[in-house]
Amino acid sequence: MSDTKKTSIKQILQSQQAEPEICVKGWVRSIRRGKDVAFLTMNDGSCFASVQIVLSPDIDNYDAVSRVGTGACLVVVGALVESPAKGQDWELQAQTIEIIGAADESYPLQKKRHTLEYLRTIAHLRPRSNTFGAVFRMRSALSFAVHQFFQQRGFLYVQTPIITANDCEGAGELFRVTTLDPQNPPLLDGKVDWSRDFFGEQTGLTVSGQLQGELFATAFSDIYTFGPTFRAENSNTSRHAAEFWMIEPEIAFADLRDNCQLGEDFLRYLVTYALDHCHEDLDFFNQRIEKGLIEKLETLAKANFTTVTYTEAVERLQKSGQKFEFPVEWGLDLQSEHERYLTEKVFNGPVFVTDYPKQIKAFYMRMNDDGKTVAAMDLLVPRVGEIIGGSQREERLDVLQARMAAQGIAPDDMSWYLDIRRWGSCPHAGFGLGFERLIMYLTGMENIRDVIPFPRTPGHARF
Ligand code: 4AD
Ligand code: MG
Repeated sequence: MSDTKKTSIKQILQSQQAEPEICVKGWVRSIRRGKDVAFLTMNDGSCFASVQIVLSPDIDNYDAVSRVGTGACLVVVGALVESPAKGQDWELQAQTIEIIGAADESYPLQKKRHTLEYLRTIAHLRPRSNTFGAVFRMRSALSFAVHQFFQQRGFLYVQTPIITANDCEGAGELFRVTTLDPQNPPLLDGKVDWSRDFFGEQTGLTVSGQLQGELFATAFSDIYTFGPTFRAENSNTSRHAAEFWMIEPEIAFADLRDNCQLGEDFLRYLVTYALDHCHEDLDFFNQRIEKGLIEKLETLAKANFTTVTYTEAVERLQKSGQKFEFPVEWGLDLQSEHERYLTEKVFNGPVFVTDYPKQIKAFYMRMNDDGKTVAAMDLLVPRVGEIIGGSQREERLDVLQARMAAQGIAPDDMSWYLDIRRWGSCPHAGFGLGFERLIMYLTGMENIRDVIPFPRTPGHARF
């Protein structure tokens, strides 16, 4: 392979001057053969656009190269010149071309436009398509932005465990982790004896890093986690994955208002970051995936978010006259149809819903003075629905113990969690932002399976 140093296509296309000799390495997107010239477009993933390569019959292996297929991997050395044609500023006049990896006509990503559903069945190849190139570049850029936001504010990044003995959300959606033989597990009184399992107790994959995050917040004040999260919810929706990434800040000396403010600042920062750094990919989503996307994001970057209590939200829904599939009644959880109606029709923008009934929320949320609601908050955004879920935490030992007892949670299993209420307890709050939901919001992609590299959903763990 040519040992000339490669230049990325992104750099080439931003070039200020012609270059007598540069080298690009990448994959063929299209090829057009004329009578005595051929044109190739090549992409290396560094940016949305491809570079045009002009082949003249003078090059040694013209025949082979002009017959190369879409998808083939090439190394091209040539002169960068101003392009006489419309559609691009620069083109590369090839001097030598090496075929590194051939591809024949069975390559699935030929010129025609494929459906997202079909591309899901070739998740190993879809990163080479325009849409998925743009999605995964945005995902990478936004991961960096997440860290930048918190690091600029002095938050500590903590890596909470993936294997855990707790079901934080209390919803029993844990994937089990075990080394016991499923055919022949050790038994005690006719039941599986988990004390003989690898960790000496039942364990699973984490549904949230929050509980451990809280421990760190009572040492480092402001912390965040950013990692994979697992839920064995058997819900085959366009917004749920069994494996997804979540960002969970936890802030000490903070109440529900501070928490909402942090969520608002965070989302606004991420949207602004995308507008400032991902315009080429956003232009594509704006044209091809969600018309008006950029305007929506620009509006959000400036808007103040609305806040309503759960009680007001329920009243608004009941008064709306809208027919819903699921009932709307104080004490019942909001379904995604209700959430979307609130954010899309009632408020036409992002809205925090706060102070939910205690019976539909997790045990750790702080009890309000009314004794009926807890200091919870969900942030709803158009098209996606719930993007953030969080709360102020119960910092009062006796209240927390009573809440756990009422929900049948054994205090012994959680003694470490109670300890931070025993010694140096302080008001604190936090939330979780679903990273895939964020990427859905920023790209307009409508299915969570299309914003995560290799989706895990019920019945699907291939690739
Ligand atoms: O509302 P959730 O369940 O909240 C928690 O896990 C809290 N422990 C967070 C905290 O307070 N630290 O989840 C938080 C967010 C949701 O708003 C949603 O964006 C995302 O995580 N999420 C999912 N994303 C994809 N697939 C799933 N199955 C998801 N479940 C939750
Ligand atoms: Mg939630």
